[in-house]
Formats: sequence, C-alpha cells, structure tokens
Amino acid sequence: MAEQILILDFGSQYTQLIARRVRELDVYCEIHPFNNIPEITPDIKGVILSGSPCSVRDEGAPDLDLDQFRGKLPLLGVCYGSQLLAQKYGGTVLPSEIREYGRANLSYIDKHVDLFHEVSYDSQVWMSHGDTIKELPEGFDVISSTPSVKVAAFKVKDEDTYGIQFHPEVTHSLEGKNLLRNFVVQICGCSQDWTSDIFIDSTIEGLKEKLGEDKVVMGLSGGVDSSVAAILIHKAIGDHLTCVFVDNGLLRKNEYEEVLESYKDLGLNVIGVDAKQRFYDSLKGKTDPEDKRKAIGNTFIEVFDDEAHKIEGVKWLGQGTIYPDVIESVSVNGPSATIKSHHNVGGLPDFMKLKVVEPLNTLFKDGVRAVGRALEIPEAIIGRHPFPGPGLAIRILGDITEEKVATLQEVDHIFIKGLKDHGLYDEVWQAGAILLPVQSVGVMGDERTYEKVVALRAVSSVDGMTADWVHLPYEFLGLISNEIINKVKGVNRVVYDISSKPPATIEWE
Ligand code: XMP
Repeated sequence: MAEQILILDFGSQYTQLIARRVRELDVYCEIHPFNNIPEITPDIKGVILSGSPCSVRDEGAPDLDLDQFRGKLPLLGVCYGSQLLAQKYGGTVLPSEIREYGRANLSYIDKHVDLFHEVSYDSQVWMSHGDTIKELPEGFDVISSTPSVKVAAFKVKDEDTYGIQFHPEVTHSLEGKNLLRNFVVQICGCSQDWTSDIFIDSTIEGLKEKLGEDKVVMGLSGGVDSSVAAILIHKAIGDHLTCVFVDNGLLRKNEYEEVLESYKDLGLNVIGVDAKQRFYDSLKGKTDPEDKRKAIGNTFIEVFDDEAHKIEGVKWLGQGTIYPDVIESVSVNGPSATIKSHHNVGGLPDFMKLKVVEPLNTLFKDGVRAVGRALEIPEAIIGRHPFPGPGLAIRILGDITEEKVATLQEVDHIFIKGLKDHGLYDEVWQAGAILLPVQSVGVMGDERTYEKVVALRAVSSVDGMTADWVHLPYEFLGLISNEIINKVKGVNRVVYDISSKPPATIEWE
C-alpha cells in the first residue's frame, strides 16, 4: 500500500485544494469526512484537519476525537482545524475583532520549527476566518504571527501537532507549498514516490486481478477521463474490453469520425454507433433545458444498453469517474440544490446489472492528464477542453433541429480552430459557441437581413465549479466574428459572453 496522508474534511471550500497540493508533492492522500473516518492503517503517515464554514463556537459544530491522533501521528490543523485543536485542549477561540480575509504577512516565524523550513520572514499568506485563537492551551507555543493575528500558527511542545490559521493550499499563500512539503515530507516522512508510472503499474496489476477473464464494456466520450480509463483497462485485459462511442448528433463538427479514428489508432476495440436520429427524435419539440438533458440521458442509456446486450457474458461497466466526483464532501449546510442535472455522474441504471470498474476514481484531473501523457495518449485527447455530455443541445437555446445543429457546428468549428491556430486553445479551460433563439437585423450588400445571433464563450477555470471569462484579444475576436458572419449562412451577429461563474454558469442551459 502506498504511504498516504489522511485529510479530514470539515466542509471547507479549500479541502480539495489541500489534497491537490499534497498530490503535487508526489504523495498519495485521501479526503474523508470528519464524521466517517477510515481505519487508521500503518500506511497513513499523517493527518491534516481542514477548514470549515462553521465556527467552533457554534452549537453542534463539526467535532471529533483528536486524542486518536495526537502524539501518535503528525497532525496539522488548518484554519478551523487549528481552532478546534486549540479549543478542545483548553484554549479560547473568540470572534475576530476585525474579520481577516485576504493577504497577510508572517511578521514572526519561529525558524527552529521544521514546519517553517524555507518559509521566509514576512511571507505572504492567505487568511479567511471570522474567529481567532485568543489563548492557547497549556503546552501549545506560538510559532508564527501576523501584525493582526498573534496566533497565526502554533506547535504543541515535544509533539508533531501543529495548527495554522492561514491557508497554505491556496496560491496566494506564496510559500504555502513549502510549508505543506515540510509537513508531509520532513515531519510525516513521506518519500514522494507516488508518480504516474507507479500509479499505472499498480492500477494495471490491480485491474488484472479484479477482472481476470471477465468482459468489460465502456462508453467513451472522446474526453480525457474516459479515454485514459479505457487505455488502462485495455492494457490490463486487452480485447476483453469493448468500447462504445455514440454519435448523438450533438457532437462538434467531424468529431465522431476523428475521435473514432484516434481510438482505433490507440488499439482500442471500439464500436461506433450512429444514433443521431434516435436523439433528434427524443428531443423533438423539447425546449426546457432539464427536459432536454433528461431526454438525452435516457436515450443514451437505451442506445448503450442495446450495444452492451450484444456483448455476450459482459460483467463489468468501465467508467472514467474521477476523484472529485466521488469525494463524499461533507455537506455542512445540507444538500445543495440541484442547479443542473449532470447525467453522466451517477452512471447507468441498476437494471444493467453490471459491476462498475473505475480505475481513475482516486485521481484529480491533472493527475489523469499526467497518467495519460505517461501512457503516450495523443495530446489532442489529453489537452481537449471539457465538453458536456448533452453536447450542443445545451448550447442551442430552445428546441433542437438538425439544421440548428449544423449551423452551430460551423460556428463552433471556426471559433475552436481559430483558438488553436492563434495559440490560444491551451490558455482557455473551455470554449464554445451558443446559438441564441434571437434574430436581429443586419445588412449584407444592399440587402436587409434578419438572421440569428450567436454568442462565443471562453472561460478560465480550475475545475468548472467557478470560472471567469477569458480576455481574448479584440483582434482575434474581430477576425473570428468576421469569419463566422461571412461563412455561416443564417448568422449575422456575434456577441462575446463576459459573465463569470458565479453568478452565471459556464453553459447557457
Ligand atoms: P456549468 O454550466 O454548470 O458547467 O457551469 C460546468 C461544467 O460542466 C459541464 N456540464 C455538463 N457536463 N453533462 C456533462 O457531462 C451535463 O449535463 C453538463 N452540464 C454542464 C460544462 O460543460 C462545464 O464544463
């Protein structure tokens, strides 16, 4: 078993970031909710307690027995985690006189403490807290302060137990990575050998053992997750894996043919299914975004089920699920409202009676990409922008017709090709075009036109949860707009979406 760091989640928005920073150090870690702690096995080398939107002073605030770790394993409390440590052992936590949010500087650092190795005096850190530790318990020493927070960090005497008020995991804490490295490597003694190659070898071994001679079926999307998962399973069981790639008639221009071709080059056994008409029929007359998503999701299941039934004796369903989809995040404020139903999370219905195999369910997206590159999967697949399962259907506002799909495919193709030709594609997290149910007046030659409006959207993001619009150069936008209006029949106006998420979302539906 790989050495690992256990991260206990109290519901902070930054918990996943802590895990990603630890993974970037080539150390394996897992996030578990504070109220569902796994068995503490010898491979666990240290424990990190996350932040939380709650206050330790709240009644019913998240709590756990810290004696099970203190003095037995290195322990690092971050923000709420540090306040919990302080409060539970007799210290005092009170509301801050000034709510500290944003940048601060460490004006005092105890340089004798390993945690601060290669962290400079005055180092910039990121604070985000409404409470502050006023008094430390007996035996707890202040090891760092800022001008306004006396206890910016503490250590327990003769014990590898630490608390820090700031967030080392966010990039605004400029030396936060050094601090986490000090904890994980120096203090916990992890050996930083959890690399893509190790992951690949152990995953293939594990898959061989798990799957034996069984057959697996898997739906591919052309995206990085399902492609990398399929290659790993293929390496383990060869032709016992059958992949299905469905043309739902809502893909990008030429995408079906191109993706199918690249899968075949990779040696995968792929069945291409042209189901365009089934999807168009299921969408006929539907205008509500959620109705459209449901129709597409249900049709996909039917089409996939038909194909899976053709594979005799198939036992497993392969999926490209990644870690952020499976982390049982602690919902401190109850389940969040469904904003959009993402039908690809949750998989296929029980009636398929297949067991599920998900080789990437411990990786973050950057880990998946690193593994994909180590497997020599072409960059065209690895670096591909995310594309929603319902495809262009949620970028055509209102009802879907083949003609509208064809129009949007042309517009999207000009935009995406333009981004690639101008070296902008990799700077953008996701881009696409939206066909609006709006006509506007224009003039072409001497003729009045009354045609469609399209919007272009390009966003920067880390995980799609939040996003900002990209400041694409005006010259580029001008060129693309001209090309679209000149070449795509039925479009006479192009606009650029400058909304961030929140409050907007990335997709328009
Ligand atoms: P939103 O629009 O919610 O999108 O800001 C966030 C990310 O999710 C993708 N998305 C989907 N992906 N099925 C998918 O597979 C869906 O129904 C769906 N809706 C949105 C979106 O493209 C973006 O990357």
